Amino acid sequence: MPTPRTIAIDGPAGAGKSTIGALVAERLGYLFLDTGAMYRAVAHAAMRRGVDPDDADALGRLAREVRIAIGPPTVRDGRAYTVLLDGEDVTWAIRSGDIDRVVPQVARVPAVRDAMVEQQRALAGNGRVVMVGRDIGTVVLPDAERKVFLTASAAERARRRGDELAARGEVRPRQELLHEILRRDEIDSERVVSPLRPAEDAVVVQTDWLSVGQALDKVLRVIARPAA
Ligand code: DC
Repeated sequence: MPTPRTIAIDGPAGAGKSTIGALVAERLGYLFLDTGAMYRAVAHAAMRRGVDPDDADALGRLAREVRIAIGPPTVRDGRAYTVLLDGEDVTWAIRSGDIDRVVPQVARVPAVRDAMVEQQRALAGNGRVVMVGRDIGTVVLPDAERKVFLTASAAERARRRGDELAARGEVRPRQELLHEILRRDEIDSERVVSPLRPAEDAVVVQTDWLSVGQALDKVLRVIARPAA
């Protein structure tokens, strides 16, 4: 059977969506778009310009003003893609702990979401795309041909986040990371607009105890399976 042309991968922070999504895209020769990076780029612009994260109007305006471009890696430093914010490379800057803390506030603003969703749909217009985020299967691409909801326990996700930060020289207590993951889950799941939840037609893939290779195989099997 032909491979589906749009693949939506959603799930909570730290479930492995970006890692697995990038590998799936590479395997299929599709475009990979990590939509979380777009919300992170807006949060970064807000912090830079001193925009109050509680000022929804200002954040909405900012989201329409900034130019965010996500493309193939331009530097070989372990990045899966390069993120440009108004032409500046912010690929690593948007992964800081400060951004982790403010991004849920930015992502819950309806005007910010509208601006991002519009760009995401335009990017998916030609198909052959693997898009990862929180609301791809439910809101951005409700007609995606395959929907995967990738998840793992909060403890496992905190452990992975700790390893990721440590690899970049930022050592953080595990309990603190767990607390942050739970707080982000709460904001992402309880916000009024596009809360995090699996689409009705998504296949849930649990990744606790799975290596990256095993999780990838599982997702590729789901994608290859004829749609129900
Ligand atoms: O996946 P991530 O941790 O990079 O996402 C950053 C934030 O953006 C997180 O708070 C969830 C939010 N997000 C969202 O609301 N919708 C998406 N499609 C992607 C991310």
